[in-house]
Amino acid sequence: SDSDPLQDFCVGDLKASPSINGFPCKSAVSASDFFYSGLAGPLDTSNPNGVTIAPGNVLTFPGLNTLGLAMNNVELAPGGVNPPHLHPRATEAGIVVEGSVFVGFVTTNNTLFSKVMTAGEMFVIPRGLVHFQWNAGKDKARMITAFNSQLPGVVVLPNTLFGSKPEIPNTVLTKAFKTDDTTIANLKSKFVG
Ligand code: GLV
Ligand code: MN
Repeated sequence: SDSDPLQDFCVGDLKASPSINGFPCKSAVSASDFFYSGLAGPLDTSNPNGVTIAPGNVLTFPGLNTLGLAMNNVELAPGGVNPPHLHPRATEAGIVVEGSVFVGFVTTNNTLFSKVMTAGEMFVIPRGLVHFQWNAGKDKARMITAFNSQLPGVVVLPNTLFGSKPEIPNTVLTKAFKTDDTTIANLKSKFVG
């Protein structure tokens, strides 16, 4: 859903400041600007959520500048969770290439659509909707996701709500979550800093 390009390509000059829609074009362009190896795995998923994402967006692969596309390699350890998040600027499509993944998104009327997807199966997450993935299997899982934006952006709900700097005041969060200060403080302690 990025705007249409007005030339064949415009490899981003990341050293220049980004302007309204992306980066200015780099002047000397070569083949290597259009090929990117950074999605290759295997990725190390030994972290608390058991998920690691290698992003191919305009910031890692400047050849995508003005072209309206990005992709990720997402790897999940058994039991790993890609926490609830949304992309403000893109619809997401994905294909599971290894293992099995419980994929879900929630609509604006709070309906959860979900399914366990296995290798070869494709899903779509409408733009801006909250979604997550969970490796419910016993083996490692891997998927490739694609976005109709060179920089889809990501809002990770737990981090946004409990890890912002400065913090969202407890009064806001205790009311919003119908809970007490201790619970909010406990959640914040896991995400702030
Ligand atoms: C998965 O949801 C991703 O954003 O790559
Ligand atoms: Mn996503």
